[in-house]
Amino acid sequence: MGMFRTKSIEQTIKDTEAPEHRLRRRLSALDLTVFGVGVIVGTGIFVLTGRVARDTAGPAVALSFVVAAVACGLAALCYAEFASTVPVAGSAYTFAYATLGEFPAWIIGWDLILELALGAAVVSVGWSGYFASLMATLGVHLPPGLAGEGAVFNLPAMLIVLLLTVVLVAGIKLSSRTNLVLVTVKVAVVLLVIFAGLFFIDSRNYTPFIPPAEATQSVEGLGAPLIQVLFGLTPTAYGIAGVFSAAAVVFFAFIGFDIVATAAEETKNPQRDMPIGILGSLAVCTALYVGVSLVVVGMQPYQRLSSAAPLADAFRAVGQPWLATVISIGAIAGLTTVVLIMMLGQSRVFFAMSRDSLLPRSLAAVHPKYGTPARITVIIGLVTAVLAGFIPLSALAELVNIGTLFAFVIVSIAVVLLRRTRPELPRPFRTPLVPLVPILSVLASAYLMVNLPVETWLRFLAWMAVGVVVYFLYGRRHSHLARPPEPAQGDARRPVG
Ligand code: ALA
Repeated sequence: MGMFRTKSIEQTIKDTEAPEHRLRRRLSALDLTVFGVGVIVGTGIFVLTGRVARDTAGPAVALSFVVAAVACGLAALCYAEFASTVPVAGSAYTFAYATLGEFPAWIIGWDLILELALGAAVVSVGWSGYFASLMATLGVHLPPGLAGEGAVFNLPAMLIVLLLTVVLVAGIKLSSRTNLVLVTVKVAVVLLVIFAGLFFIDSRNYTPFIPPAEATQSVEGLGAPLIQVLFGLTPTAYGIAGVFSAAAVVFFAFIGFDIVATAAEETKNPQRDMPIGILGSLAVCTALYVGVSLVVVGMQPYQRLSSAAPLADAFRAVGQPWLATVISIGAIAGLTTVVLIMMLGQSRVFFAMSRDSLLPRSLAAVHPKYGTPARITVIIGLVTAVLAGFIPLSALAELVNIGTLFAFVIVSIAVVLLRRTRPELPRPFRTPLVPLVPILSVLASAYLMVNLPVETWLRFLAWMAVGVVVYFLYGRRHSHLARPPEPAQGDARRPVG
């Protein structure tokens, strides 16, 4: 029956206080918002906008961004309540452990690997593509086998991951400072795209705004959205259905506001700052995305948008190559922060899981000098570097989406459950209109999930099946909750080496 044992909120918070497992509280609401924007604005807007407008939604990709933003906003309201009530590292994993029980929590922790480690690898491959194109502008042509989407051994992607691992081990304050500089460059470039692009808009490109539905190669067989297969529809792109399946893909562009919650334990005043950080960064990004997508589809006919570097290439197409170069530099800065924070989020989730002994507990040791979970960070850095270096990841962006949406569903359900089981807990931020908002959040996320391709569902189910096996072989037996309370001299007191 141990599978559904829960960890009390009090215990969850108390565990963060053991000195050798304690993270330092240094982040403010502004730091968190910068963190949020830093991890949110990335491959989604810089790369996917072009591909999705061209293949799935046409100029209506701007509507797809709005649909995805609504789903994220609903989930964000649920995340904000949890992050303010249980301000502890581990995000959705921790929330699930406190409410749904150990097994569901493990499943979520396992699922978050898809979002965070795989997400970091996907974005670093995008980084490598922009890096290669910038080098090409400077006259240095990297061999295609060594960089970009089609690489066999993606050297720049691996190197950026390893470099950022060092930054993370050295300490969170350093990371957030690095982040501030990079985020400023990135936001400036996004604003540049919007305001410079306005001068090159040709209004004819907006008609038809929603191109008529048509059957295309990109949505055949296992590539068809699950919802079309379930209802026996002929798979199509464009049209209203296209707007929704595009929303499920550009959802990737919003991933990250939830990662802000993983830094709760390092926040000075989580009760006040968490909701500001989560909702604020989401609002800023939604405005930027709708602006960028409207401008870009106005600059070029959607059929001609590039799929590798659509923002830069749109400026090249209107005869402004120097702006294209500036945008590439901004994209490189932007993608760097995304990889950085995704790895940070992953290390904090693993940190929480190993502190609970669902993963080997020695991994949760905090480095005596840097105050960061160094061992875990290094392991994650190495695994992500290998993924980034050797696996062709373009289709896997959708796997990142399904993993994240699944976490949103669980967190939304958990908010309602915790209101029932622990009504008395102080909730500095309360999700409005419970249970309506959480229910709408579950429905919106589930709807985006069924708009993803069948092959994505198959990969997702396979990954989760592996997670179940690992839990029964390791976590179930080693779990902290499976053992009687530890004496003060237990392994939790082991010096950090
Ligand atoms: N939201 C992040 C991006 O667009 C994951 O790259």
